[in-house]
Amino acid sequence: MDKLNSRKKYMRDVYSKYWTNVRKRYGIIQYDKDLISKLVQITKSGKVLEVAIGDGYPYSHALTEKEYDLYGIDISPQHVEMVRKALPSINVSVGDAENIKFRDHFFDLVFCFRSTWYFSNITKAVSEMLRVVKKGGLVMFDVQNINHPIHLKFIKEQIKREKSYTYEITTRFIKNFIKLIIRPIRFYPIHWSLEKHIILETPTDPNLLKQFFKENMIVFQVYGVEWNNNKYALRKLETGKDFDKYDRLVYKATKP
Ligand SMILES: C[S@@+](CC[C@H](N)C(=O)[O-])C[C@H]1O[C@@H](n2cnc3c(N)ncnc32)[C@H](O)[C@@H]1O
Repeated sequence: MDKLNSRKKYMRDVYSKYWTNVRKRYGIIQYDKDLISKLVQITKSGKVLEVAIGDGYPYSHALTEKEYDLYGIDISPQHVEMVRKALPSINVSVGDAENIKFRDHFFDLVFCFRSTWYFSNITKAVSEMLRVVKKGGLVMFDVQNINHPIHLKFIKEQIKREKSYTYEITTRFIKNFIKLIIRPIRFYPIHWSLEKHIILETPTDPNLLKQFFKENMIVFQVYGVEWNNNKYALRKLETGKDFDKYDRLVYKATKP
């Protein structure tokens, strides 16, 4: 199986067990609140799709209180089942962000948060989101910025883990012992397998998206995320030059 397919398989079959615990631990932060209010501000009613909906919290759950016809897709059947049980008003189904099974121009708004870095091909996913939204409709998503030092360091480490099996297995076992020791204080899931490392997260180069939007004549706005700002987490960026100060960027694109 090639690398990208093993990532998809992992996201489909394994990742949901980990994410549900982590998501609950995150709770709702200012960033989530700002994203939710942006969504509500830009589209007041109509059909809304969350791509990679997870267990439905926090975004779609918050929107169930408003006048929307809500839809969600996720690659993991376990996540889809969780949404069906907890949030039955959402039309949720198993689906791949890179091949969305809805017709063109079907939605008034499409969004995807905390997920694009798990996709194998971000421009394919963004063009799918743009395909299913109506003309003049909005697509919102966030990306990890590959040019930020945090992600440059992270990717270097990921490549090292993928290339050297000995390094990977040794660090995996050392980390597991540390996790066992700190378990009475904090719970981290432990993964004892001897399988090769799979790179699950790929940050995005903002220049790739800039080029993609230019070629497709799409108007877009970018926001940098300020994690320590309690009042407002999204800073509107006017030019490309400030992008690399932010490890997370939020894009809002309008379908022409
Ligand atoms: C970190 S979780 C975020 C879930 C939710 N958006 C949230 O913010 O809580 C990432 C989600 O992406 C989903 N996912 C990964 N690859 C996908 C793909 N190709 N198509 C659809 N969903 C995918 C995973 O199953 C998981 O639910």
